[in-house]
Order: sequence, then C-alpha cells, then structure tokens
Amino acid sequence: MPLIAGGLEGPSSYLLRQIATAAQPWQDIALGSSNGRIMRKHTVSLALSAVVCLVAAVVWPRAALASESAHRPIEKSSFGRVGNDAVEIYTLTNAHGIEARIMTYGAAIVSLKTPDRAGRFQNIVLGFDTLDAYLAGVPYFGASVGRYANRIADGRFTLDGKSYQLPKNDGPNSLHGGARGFDKHIWTAESIQTRQGAALRLTYVSAAGEEGYPGRLTAHVTYRLDHDDSLVIEYQAVTTAPTPVNLANHAYFNLSGDLQRTILDDVLTINADLFTPVNATLIPIGELRSVTNTSFDFRKPQVIGRRINDKDEQLQLGHGYDHNWVLNKTRPEALTLAAVLTDPDSGRSLEIRTTQPGLQFYSGNFLDGKPSGGGTVFKYRTGLCLETQHFPDSPNQPAFPSTILRPGKMYSAKTELAFRVVK
Ligand code: GLA
Repeated sequence: MPLIAGGLEGPSSYLLRQIATAAQPWQDIALGSSNGRIMRKHTVSLALSAVVCLVAAVVWPRAALASESAHRPIEKSSFGRVGNDAVEIYTLTNAHGIEARIMTYGAAIVSLKTPDRAGRFQNIVLGFDTLDAYLAGVPYFGASVGRYANRIADGRFTLDGKSYQLPKNDGPNSLHGGARGFDKHIWTAESIQTRQGAALRLTYVSAAGEEGYPGRLTAHVTYRLDHDDSLVIEYQAVTTAPTPVNLANHAYFNLSGDLQRTILDDVLTINADLFTPVNATLIPIGELRSVTNTSFDFRKPQVIGRRINDKDEQLQLGHGYDHNWVLNKTRPEALTLAAVLTDPDSGRSLEIRTTQPGLQFYSGNFLDGKPSGGGTVFKYRTGLCLETQHFPDSPNQPAFPSTILRPGKMYSAKTELAFRVVK
C-alpha cells in the first residue's frame, strides 16, 4: 500500500508520502454538487453568464462565508459541577462535519469526530460522556496539562539562585504540574468565530505558589477547528515572576474509531533524528541519542507494535514507548511537521505540526483495563499520546531549550492536528 511503501529517497520523502494527498471524498461531494449547480444555471447566453459571473464574484465570497458560519456553530451546554462551580462543554463543528467537544474542566478535548475513508464519522480520542467519570480520576484524558507538562526530577529546580520544591506525584518526581495541575481546574471560556473556523479560548490563572511554582501565571489555550480539517491548538502565557512553563495537550488517539482496539497496528512517523533516553523514573539522562539502528527510529513509517516489545533497555525502562523525541527543525520555533499517525484499516491519518522542540510519544502503557469513573474500561495500549512540548526536566537540564518564562515576555506555542484520509 502506498502509505508504507518504501522508496529510494531520503527520510523526508517517506514523511511526505505518509501525508495523504488524496482528496477527501466528503469534500469532493460538496464541491462537485455546488459547481454543478452553478454550471447548469448559467448556460442561457454568454452575456447573461458574464453578468451572473460578475454578480457571483461580488456576492459569492459573502454567501460562502455565511453558509460556512451556518455549518460551524459553537454550541454550549452544561457538563455538570465541581462543588458549586459549573463545568460547560462546547461543541465546535466545521463545514465538513468534523466535531470537537471541549470542556472547561482541564480545558480538555472530550471527543473528536472525524471521517474514515468511507466518510463514517467516529470519535478518535479516549474520553467519557460524564464529568463524574473525569472527577473519579483519569490519566489526563484530552487535558491541557501544566504548569509544567511531563516530569521534573525530584520535584525540584533552582531558578535565579533560589530552590523550589514541587509535589512529588509520580514516584520521586513531579508530573504534569503536580498533585493538582491545570488539568484539574475549571478554565473560563470564550467562543470566537473566525474566518478559518470556530474557536474556543480558555483561560486559567494559576496563583503564585500554586503547586510550588513561583509567579502568578495567566495561561490561555485556544482550540480552533478549521475548514481545512485541522484543529489548531495555541498556547499563550504571561507571568508575574520567573517560572518554568510547559503547556501541552494530552489527548489519547485511537484513529480506528473503535476505542476497544489497540493502537499497535497503527503506522507512525516521527520527524526526529534524536531522542532523549531516560533513567528508571523516566527522567532524561541528558544525552541526545541518535535513533539510527534503534527501535526509536520512526523516520520512515513504522507499525507501532512491530518493535514495541524489543529487548531494548529504553523500551524496558519506559514499559514501551514513553519518551521525548527531539524534533528536526529548520530553525527553533518554526511550525514544522512533527509526526504522522495512520490507521490503515479506517484510512484515518493525523498529521501533527508544531512550533515545539519535542514530542513525547506515549504508547498507553499504563492503561490497565480497570474500570474508570463511568465504568468504561480502557484497555492496555488502546490509546496513544503524541504530546508536543518542551523536553522533560528542562528546568534541571541547562543543555535543553529553556522553559523559563520571565515577566514582560509572552510564552507562545502552536500545534496543528490535520485530519486526513488515505486510500
Ligand atoms: C505522560 C507520561 C506517562 C504517563 C502519562 C499519564 O504522557 O509520560 O509516563 O504518566 O502521562 O498516565
């Protein structure tokens, strides 16, 4: 199949090959019918056609925009309460029917419906229908994680000569912002209509000292569901005192649409020549290691399950893949291709572009099939995370790109998830 067919060219051509070039069937149908209608209407005479074309040129863009807005409403409804505080859920829909539901608790993606190659829409992220299930405790499903996504060794760092101690909520380390990270707070939300698509801007203000971090941090995440079938996630933050910041989305993808199936048959490409090997508690040991001749080489499309059980020290330490890849960049902060994930059965393909320097690929190794809050069971490796972010433990690793935000500066990062279909 063309998706994984090899070639003689370099790694980037493999990456490009995995990017679907086929027009999506649901787009063909939409475009075909409107063109056909216009053509039939205006064959009466050349003169009449010219007049109609002129009018169309003036009216069409507005009409198109108006009909697009009609197709992409943002709906808001109640999703329950945390104590006295209400949690809302917003539904964003684009002109092709792709739908993202985002709740204010944890600024989390609750569901994401995209079409397979037959045009069938299914949810491709792990999540629950009720807030109670999330409150019962889930491993960051779809959430915006912060103030520092990923691990900080011993929950400790020194900044400008001062030491800070964070809660240790993952063995000896601090993980995803500590005991109560940004994923466990209610964000305020504002819906916005843009030319590209419907957007939701969420804000959370983290008090100085919260979870041990210095400075009051005002964080924003904006989700925009575009007409070109991509979900754009943008982060911004400002602080009142120097602090580490690393914001990331923690969606677990299962492109098959059947959330009981494992992700082991999916095909993954990662645009990275290097990764950061870890110690037994998943803290990078400081080395940037080449992926060449390792089970970590995803520069050409690889079936995830093919090497996941290799006798490899790093795979054993991670209980599978749970590592940070150093993304190949033309320049720091350029928006570049990070990864392509494809489910050959359904034909769904996800292309990820980001301004971030790293990608944590986590193969769902801690999903254990035990019932979660709502009674739903998510089995071992039935979802995988592709978390675009800074490298783990950066506050303690001076050789890694800096994650320190200072007053007067703006933290900003952008990740695009493009939903495609391969034949
Ligand atoms: C991250 C980590 C994993 C795990 C999950 C949550 O992605 O890298 O080790 O902790 O979150 O279960």
